[in-house]
Amino acid sequence: MEELRNKELLLVHQGRMTAMGEMLANIAHQWRQSLNVMGLLIQQLGLFSESDCLDKQLVDVNVEKAMGILKHLSQTIDDFRTFSEPDREKIPFRINQVLEKTLKFVGELFTHQGISIKSDFVQDSQVTGFPNEFSQALLNLLLNARDALVESRTGNKWIKVSSRPENGRAVVTITDNGGGVDENIIDKIFDPYFTTKKLGKGSGIELFMSKNIIERNRGGHLSVRNIKKCAEFRIEV
Ligand SMILES: Nc1ncnc2c1ncn2[C@@H]1O[C@H](COP(=O)(O)OP(=O)(O)OP(=O)(O)O)[C@@H](O)[C@H]1O
Ligand SMILES: [Mg+2]
Repeated sequence: MEELRNKELLLVHQGRMTAMGEMLANIAHQWRQSLNVMGLLIQQLGLFSESDCLDKQLVDVNVEKAMGILKHLSQTIDDFRTFSEPDREKIPFRINQVLEKTLKFVGELFTHQGISIKSDFVQDSQVTGFPNEFSQALLNLLLNARDALVESRTGNKWIKVSSRPENGRAVVTITDNGGGVDENIIDKIFDPYFTTKKLGKGSGIELFMSKNIIERNRGGHLSVRNIKKCAEFRIEV
């Protein structure tokens, strides 16, 4: 039992490291853009001062903009820190709040990859569990959807995230139009180390981990089905 538990902890750790790598890439992208804008604001002050057209208003405007950007940069670090901390105990949390926070991390990266995210949140549900692990599971599903879309030749790529209460439970679905999961392997995708990705690209543990995380939360459930050319992952907690 202990050996199993240790193995599981190692997998949680590995999963978190992969997800953190992705998030870090996304944050780096956001930071670079913000730093570019800050650079422009500062250069503008320099240019205007050289040609003696620097007035107080321009200084004020630029200072305010730069401070806004700094605040945003600092916020992304705080968000990242919360995400990377393991949950110590079960706490009450709001499903949609965690969804929004997770989407914020990948939003810009996905837009950059030509993928639009449509969210449809009907009503928030409060549950008791491990919010950071829950967020990690969501992130894994989103990254898988992204991977499927990047591989596919679909023109108009989208991921739809919907959240609503159903019969007293919170239901979240993540659907992508990347072609769906191949019916020949759909029964195996939650197995540990099952992957269809190229060697070195995927470990195949993310869905296994996500299922574990979800099903440890109040006897939750994670399942998949294809709807036409779309893959739909459904979380019930
Ligand atoms: N949205 C999806 N559309 C189509 N196939 C999917 C989708 N999500 C998962 N799959 C299939 O399930 C397999 C297992 O997914 P899983 O996340 O466990 O591992 P992986 O993505 O291959 O690698 P990693 O562990 O690095 O995430 C994938 O290799 C892919 O074949
Ligand atoms: Mg994956």
